[in-house]
Amino acid sequence: MALINEHYQKLAAGYLFPEIGRRVREYEQAHPGKPVIRMGIGDVTQPLSPSVIRAFHEGVDEMASAATFRGYGPEQGYGFLREAIAERSFRSRGADISAEEIFVSDGSKCDTGNIQEIFGRDSKIAICDPVYPVYADTTVMAGKTGPVGDNGYYQGIIYLPCTAENNFIPGLPQEVPDLIFLCYPNNPTGTVATREELKKWVDYAREHKSIILFDAAYEAFIRNGEIPHSIFEIEGAREVAIEFRSLSKTAGFTGTRLAYTVIPEELMAYDRQGQAVQVKKLWNRRHTTKFNGVSYPVQKAAAAVFTEEGQREVQATIDYYMENAALIRKNLEACGYTVYGGENAPYIWVRTRNGMKSWDFFDLLLERASVVGTPGSGFGPSGEGYFRFSAFAARENVLEAMARIRDL
Ligand code: MLT
Repeated sequence: MALINEHYQKLAAGYLFPEIGRRVREYEQAHPGKPVIRMGIGDVTQPLSPSVIRAFHEGVDEMASAATFRGYGPEQGYGFLREAIAERSFRSRGADISAEEIFVSDGSKCDTGNIQEIFGRDSKIAICDPVYPVYADTTVMAGKTGPVGDNGYYQGIIYLPCTAENNFIPGLPQEVPDLIFLCYPNNPTGTVATREELKKWVDYAREHKSIILFDAAYEAFIRNGEIPHSIFEIEGAREVAIEFRSLSKTAGFTGTRLAYTVIPEELMAYDRQGQAVQVKKLWNRRHTTKFNGVSYPVQKAAAAVFTEEGQREVQATIDYYMENAALIRKNLEACGYTVYGGENAPYIWVRTRNGMKSWDFFDLLLERASVVGTPGSGFGPSGEGYFRFSAFAARENVLEAMARIRDL
């Protein structure tokens, strides 16, 4: 008899974004004449940039000739791409990261979930509330929690509430976690962490031999020059952090797929005897066993992102999305909403009015304005009463959505 992984049955509901998709499809079927504007899942709408497309085509053409054809590549990614990432994403910002510490993959969603596999089953995990739901869901799937309580919290997870009162930056926990998920610029609140705040976490992790799992998927949207883009800009972070980066939002790769995970040489975790084991070595073992690398044309396209021309082009697209973010902020504030984020991140985090529940606001917007956003409670209990708008829409849709909300 095949037994299931019973931890899956603890999961509270379907994954957030497919659930939103299901509700929107139902609405569209019931209201065929009403065009829906999607500002829910953070999915990009602007095309890949010209130099990226050119490199992508070249990569495909190389696969068409026996002289330049490539089969399996290095599982960790081609050297040309890892070197370009190390230079452009890290060393140019003073973060000492080498190409050998970079693992290219097909997504940060997979990496942030899969990373748990190389750590002990009993690891205590700290997770911000609200936050990208993958961290909690994959912790449950990995059997590291008890059931979900009436308060929406899974037993065994150390939750770090992020509220307007603490500027959406969590305080250091009383109970010491082994692994700490941090995501800055933050999904969903759109807030950022200063150098001092990150230093506090790095020092805490060093003191307790914890590891910070730092999701920097939205670093390219930072506008404030004082805000660090990488945890590795913080002194001491090489001993205690793993960083996840993605080209999904940065360069429009949500459909093309390319991300990378950075694990410094000196990062250690411990066996039951207290012996230090190199984390990079474990991840390399996992990666080479379970992953055969991203396709060559995609890596070639990705490398173009890190050229001067590529950087100029992707920056123009990011500017476009950030202008959307500014428009969303301005319009919602003019309607009397309290609004956070959207200044160094593509997400705008809005307080609903009169204590309205997040899913009720979702239904209201869908039914009365045919506009889709993401209910804050889908990111954790402290997200209740909030709503997230994504700035990754086409400009005309942003303007139309804001006009519809004004008319509500
Ligand atoms: C989001 O909307 O939170 C993200 O697009 C989801 C993801 O990156 O997987």
